Amino acid sequence: MKYRYLPAIWLFPAVLFLMGCIQKKGDKQVEAGKDWPVYLGDHSSSQYSPLNEINKENIAQLDLAWEYHTGDDVSKNHSQIQCNPIIIDGILYGTSPKLKVFALSAATGKRLWEFDPDTTSKYAQNVNRGISYWQDGNDKRILFSSGSDLFALNAETGTLVETFGISGKVSLREGLGESAQNLYVVATSPGIVYDDLLIIGSRVSENAGAAPGNIRAFNIRTGKLEWTFNTIPKPGEFGYETWPEEAYKTVGGANSWAGMSLDEKRGIVYIPTGSAAFDFWGGNRKGENLFANCILALNAKTGKRIWHFQTVHHDLWDRDLPAPPNLLTVIHDGKKIDAVAQITKSGFVFLFDRETGKSLFPVEERPVPASDLQGEEAWQTQPVPLAPPPFAQQVFTGDEITDISPESHAYVSGMLAKVRTGRSFIPPSTQGTVIFPGFDGGGEWGGAAVDQTTSVLYVNSNIMPWILTMINIEGDKKGDSGTAERAYKVNCAVCHGTERQGDPTGTYPSLKSVSEKYSTKDILNIINAGKGFMPSFKHLSKEVKESLVKYLAGKKSVNDTHELGMAKNAGTFPYTHTGYNRFLDQNGYPAVKPPWGTISAIDLNDGVIKWQVSLGEFEELAKQGIPPTGTENYGGPVVTAGGLLFIGASKDGYFRAFDKDTGKVLWKYKLPAGGYATPAVYEAEGKEYIVIACGGGKMSTHSGDSYVAFTLIKNNSK
Ligand code: HEC
Repeated sequence: MKYRYLPAIWLFPAVLFLMGCIQKKGDKQVEAGKDWPVYLGDHSSSQYSPLNEINKENIAQLDLAWEYHTGDDVSKNHSQIQCNPIIIDGILYGTSPKLKVFALSAATGKRLWEFDPDTTSKYAQNVNRGISYWQDGNDKRILFSSGSDLFALNAETGTLVETFGISGKVSLREGLGESAQNLYVVATSPGIVYDDLLIIGSRVSENAGAAPGNIRAFNIRTGKLEWTFNTIPKPGEFGYETWPEEAYKTVGGANSWAGMSLDEKRGIVYIPTGSAAFDFWGGNRKGENLFANCILALNAKTGKRIWHFQTVHHDLWDRDLPAPPNLLTVIHDGKKIDAVAQITKSGFVFLFDRETGKSLFPVEERPVPASDLQGEEAWQTQPVPLAPPPFAQQVFTGDEITDISPESHAYVSGMLAKVRTGRSFIPPSTQGTVIFPGFDGGGEWGGAAVDQTTSVLYVNSNIMPWILTMINIEGDKKGDSGTAERAYKVNCAVCHGTERQGDPTGTYPSLKSVSEKYSTKDILNIINAGKGFMPSFKHLSKEVKESLVKYLAGKKSVNDTHELGMAKNAGTFPYTHTGYNRFLDQNGYPAVKPPWGTISAIDLNDGVIKWQVSLGEFEELAKQGIPPTGTENYGGPVVTAGGLLFIGASKDGYFRAFDKDTGKVLWKYKLPAGGYATPAVYEAEGKEYIVIACGGGKMSTHSGDSYVAFTLIKNNSK
């Protein structure tokens, strides 16, 4: 263990002093080199490594170096590890499916320490995409969040830094106001370190009872809240007039859950935000809704706005910006420009001048259809960049129906005829509206990689339509407004389905026989604490929670003593929806023509797509002679100076290396469980490694608990 050697260092105060000078805070945190010191590689979110020991010539020798089992019990539960680990001075820091933090020897995978925030309690409650590192001389800290707490750990020992906040932690509800104190607030992506500040966003509910999505900066030395940026402006603040007057008191969301990027030299932090809650009906938030769905450029020191660009006005489609923007330098009209690129769920890349926020390519405000939902006013136009071209297909019409078999084609044709489709930004409807690209993108949380030497951006994408069907609770359920069923529809149906059926891929479990699995007390605990990606519903009244428990236990008519509580808590919105449903054929394949998953290389100097290939395959379809279809995919790529693009992400559980210049697959390896995370590249003990978390558990695939690292193995017999 590293700290065992500390006593020796005390003997050489001069050495210590020198080290303190060289390793000044911030110094080694900015760029990937031998280390991978920051979430997604560097402050620019490049997902790029300058290492080239592993390259196109020797890729065949790449093989397993080590596998680290986190030891979490993932047998009963579908697990996920979305973590992009960081590597500093030969030590890898990562998180487990149940959100333990650990430090490993990056060369051997041997564990140095582990910190358990208490996996049995409220802390095992969200996924985690990574952690942050801060250093001032010998004071080295790991910042990470679990549940609603932000922890500071000693990076050498894994113990809490007692002087940070209250005994090593601060609440992520800090600075969000009284009303947020019972609401769901977690942080799934790590904050970004600027000087002594940790700038961090949050994940909040997307439904009724959503907490504000304000951006905060905490002092890393003390845990003190240093600044807050209100993403839903208060009176007198810029953008206040883009909402109804009282919106800042009643509307939540407009949060940033995807991570951030930092131009350290300019002191500007670039922050992607998501939609306001409720996602699919905005009758109570009429207006353009700044700063929801924006890329925000803030002064990192003060939190003051420098510029912003809104990618979707008055979002009704859950078009959160899904990944941190990429900072890069482009040659545009013959001039070198420091730029910032933002991928979107819609499959666009917006490219701006980093200082002014001016778009480098023209952006058109296109007229979009109106809404016919009661009380809704969809915004009349939406911004579309004219270059680069979208990396995901934009429309789903009869021409795009799957052709993998005549049966599939006929099945999908029948369904497509019943719903609204055929153009972008069709508002949600009770008839059913096709959302394409789907709710998870297009671009997603795995982020895009940028080759800083060529200004080519690499982005993987799902090509998956979903169907959103709204239900008018007031219309359908007149006279029934005091029942548990209504509370279920308002709060739970969006994920678990109107009939408690869940969704077929298992992301949202069926609750039909939940009473056989859990006691009423367990169910109440789940409602209070949340579970996995389910937010907490602690804010509902005791009566509502009790009647929900009874409802789930199968006792349908609970329209008894609890009417008052129900009316007060359940009736926030006139609509709910039937759940997050992928549009699939009768065999469970996507309703559109393949490819269903792609990776694209986009030249940001010229704004053109250099190549686009499918990502992943279905063995059983390949056997039928169907060309590679690609699969749904989660987790991002990394690109290296060795000319390689590494990505897991695909449903088939392979880890692949593509030729970054052509998109040809040069190497693949079947992971122990799906690698639904972004890999990290580093050097340890003189060798280059690439590591990826294998948590599986998404898209109905089996769970895993491990991290797998690869390096060049000489005399490889393969
Ligand atoms: C945003 C989506 C979402 C909403 C809204 C939601 N849930 Fe869940 N729920 C989930 C997910 C995801 C899981 C699976 C969690 C896991 O095991 O990782 C889950 C699990 C559960 C379970 C445990 C099921 C099992 O088989 O383990 C219960 C019970 C439950 N939810 C009840 C509710 C109730 C009651 C409500 C409404 C008050 C609700 N949920 C609202 C997403 C949601």
